[in-house]
Amino acid sequence: MCGIVGILGREPVAMRLVEALRRLEYRGYDSAGIAVLENGVLKRVRAAGKLRNLVQKLSDADLQSTIGIGHTRWATHGGPSEANAHPHIAGRVAIVHNGIIENFKELREQLQHRGIQPESDTDTEIVAHLINVALEEGATPKEAVLSVLEELRGAFAFAIIFEGHDNLMIGARRGSPLAVGHGEGEMMLGSDAIALAPFTSRITYLEDGDVVFLTREGFEILDGERRHVIRPMQFTQAASLLVDKGGYKHFMAKEMHEQPDVLGHTMSEYLDFANGRVRLPELPVDLKALGRMTITACGTAFYAGMVGKYWLEQLARLPVEVDVASEFRYREAPLDAGGLSLVISQSGETADTLAALRYCKARGQKVAAVVNVPESTIARESDVVLRTFAGPEIGVASTKAFTCQLVVLAAFALAVARERGHVDAEREQELVRALQQVPRLVVQALEQEEKVAKVAHELAHASDILYLGRGINYPLALEGALKFKEISYIHAEGYAAGELKHGPIALIDEKVPVVVIAPRDALFEKTVSNMEEVAARGAKIVLITDEAGAMEHGAKAFETITVPAADPFISPLLYAIPVQLLAYHAAVFLGTDVDQPRNLAKSVTVE
Ligand code: F6R
Repeated sequence: MCGIVGILGREPVAMRLVEALRRLEYRGYDSAGIAVLENGVLKRVRAAGKLRNLVQKLSDADLQSTIGIGHTRWATHGGPSEANAHPHIAGRVAIVHNGIIENFKELREQLQHRGIQPESDTDTEIVAHLINVALEEGATPKEAVLSVLEELRGAFAFAIIFEGHDNLMIGARRGSPLAVGHGEGEMMLGSDAIALAPFTSRITYLEDGDVVFLTREGFEILDGERRHVIRPMQFTQAASLLVDKGGYKHFMAKEMHEQPDVLGHTMSEYLDFANGRVRLPELPVDLKALGRMTITACGTAFYAGMVGKYWLEQLARLPVEVDVASEFRYREAPLDAGGLSLVISQSGETADTLAALRYCKARGQKVAAVVNVPESTIARESDVVLRTFAGPEIGVASTKAFTCQLVVLAAFALAVARERGHVDAEREQELVRALQQVPRLVVQALEQEEKVAKVAHELAHASDILYLGRGINYPLALEGALKFKEISYIHAEGYAAGELKHGPIALIDEKVPVVVIAPRDALFEKTVSNMEEVAARGAKIVLITDEAGAMEHGAKAFETITVPAADPFISPLLYAIPVQLLAYHAAVFLGTDVDQPRNLAKSVTVE
């Protein structure tokens, strides 16, 4: 995934930028570059491939500038070529960017109407041009950036420098991470504290919506409402650790907030936004001839698999069996040689999932693995690896790995559906566009955190909680209950909303809160009926829905949490957010060990 760095320093910055980029290599990249202001003029050096290629080019450049920005790029819009590598320059503006600009096509067309022809295929260059146009119209750099940010849809972090301004760097973040580093008479920007660790351990983490204006002497931050704000400076341990908490109280909090960023990166691997197409590595089976498929996984990854089943059956008309790996391996399930199995695992080391994989292979099946750790045993032993790009997940309760698994499964289902002739090019484009909006909508869902925390504090007093969901959101009810019990130690169960009256409704009284996950979709009225059944028995309802759902039935709930309205296809990705936040804030309220809950291990390598 892309990494950003910027230094406004006192000594030549070119090699210091490279040093910082080297520390961002762990995020993965396929090209790199820097831009500096050499004697007041923008100079740029970029190279496809590894940083050594950039270093090679820099050795001929003899750059002495003390201000510059750098970038490691993970290709999203446009392939991994030098021309698409960052920084991008337009007139007097150089910019590096991490994230996805959703409305870049419209913005590019606007520029083309003005006679401006971008050189690269990237969304980033469009932003550079827009800022440059504003400068040419007489705006100051600060005014230009603020006005262009208003026009952008998507999730992003930027670092920007300007010809003619040797003591100014502007940073901005919405969704993607960005930190300010404080040096001695110098200031920096970085995707994380690790990038800046060689130069400083004093870090200020920007919050979503923030814009920062750096000079060598200090900095000024405006928040999303464009009010002056002060964000705390912290001392980090990043020099000695590859991962730190990034200013959050827990890894789990950091990992939940990383979701817009890592979802964007995972998507960019599997979706071609420019053409509205899904692109998957070649699968070693004839998808058209496939009669069925199995998915195996454990815990949260299993719930991701359940969502995958809905997508595959609805979109690709492919019958799918989903099993918990510990059952599947002993069930002696008959499997056809030449068929396809999918295993899902964050760690890639879960013993039961690995055993399921080996069981499938022993019966002549081809195995595709959705894994987050590419060097893991499951990745090594499977025929095709569909990697999630969640980055290291430290909190035991899986959050960002889960939503990244969903992204891969959505892309997978879409690719299979296209191959089997159940989705035409137009529908494929629509669904890719819907997915493209996920990082931005996740940012919006995360903005509800304060409200969700209040609800979580109420739930923390309960001894038992039920979660209800229907259709593709039923697995979310299961995941919500799992998350809640594993970190708050409060008993919680998830049920298919329609199943309640077949038994579990006997549990309901005024002491059992019921969390209902119900977007305003085709199944909404049915779920609301189930909600009324429990409300009539005294249960306190927490309704998680969108604005339309809240308008219609919010009054029946004790508390309503709203999630941005979206295409039902992507709803599991959005409803995962309040479900995670609820569990997290209940656990924080109760004072449990959020990142390492009792009795649990991150990687379960025993049966
Ligand atoms: C729950 C959780 C676990 C894991 C499960 C599988 O928050 O994290 O349920 O999902 O142990 O682990 P992986 O995905 O590493 O195979």
